[in-house]
Amino acid sequence: MDYSGFLNFASNLAMEAGAFLKRFRGEGHLDIQAKVAGLDFVTNADKTAQKMIFESIAATYPDHGFIGEEDGLGNDGARALLRDGAERLFWVVDPLDGTLNYIRGLNGYSVSIALVRGTKPVVGVVYAPVEDELYSACEGGGAFKNGMPISASDCRDIHNALIIPSVPLTDMDLRDKMLAINSRLSRITLNTRIFGSAAVEISHVAHAGVDAYFEYGIYPWDVAAGVIIAREAGAIASSLDGREYELGDPGILVSAEGIHMAMVEAIGFDGK
Ligand code: IPD
Ligand code: CA
Ligand code: CA
Repeated sequence: MDYSGFLNFASNLAMEAGAFLKRFRGEGHLDIQAKVAGLDFVTNADKTAQKMIFESIAATYPDHGFIGEEDGLGNDGARALLRDGAERLFWVVDPLDGTLNYIRGLNGYSVSIALVRGTKPVVGVVYAPVEDELYSACEGGGAFKNGMPISASDCRDIHNALIIPSVPLTDMDLRDKMLAINSRLSRITLNTRIFGSAAVEISHVAHAGVDAYFEYGIYPWDVAAGVIIAREAGAIASSLDGREYELGDPGILVSAEGIHMAMVEAIGFDGK
């Protein structure tokens, strides 16, 4: 199937929503609400951006499904909807990935828009408006950063790997567990970076800025676009135990192919 029309549409939409977010951060009144007290937040900018994206999709593709972060579905709810839809195309959207960066006035937040068939992303765009960086891909078409082809790194030795580990958002026991894994990994890898937007972090694997990213506690809207971008760039996207990643899995590892098995073994994830 030729997805290029969808890719163009999604790219323009992500840039439009990103421009709104950047402008609003400078000029608008930011209304911050807690989703989980003191740990997870949503703002009027997240909600407005999602509305803008939803309305554009609904007007252009009225037959397609839509799942946005601010609809409040969990992993199971989203997966059930995607599976139920069978071959129906769904747009899976995070209107503002990196809300905490955004609130704190940090760079690196993004808009993430994916087109999904079943539980597989087939088109993905991630736009970071402050950096003006657009990552994009569609199935079989390769991956791009601002229109230039990108590919994941050829790293084959975990000791040379620059990795993005994760610090879970709200679950303190899980934080302890992931920090113990991160601490182990920091002894056998080159070093670590954390940027605060899963969509951008996966895109960094896709353009070989880093060699691996992993996280537990993510949702389809965080990763759907990044997964197709990374796969088209030659990276592997799996669950933390190495199975092919499927939307709705709470754990994800995206890495250069040459260190994927070593990363799975080093993470040694035995469930939550
Ligand atoms: C979060 C970011 C963050 C990741 C969290 C996500 P949000 O998304 O992607 O990097 O560590 O798991 O929830 O809440 O800013 O859209
Ligand atoms: Ca997110
Ligand atoms: Ca978000």
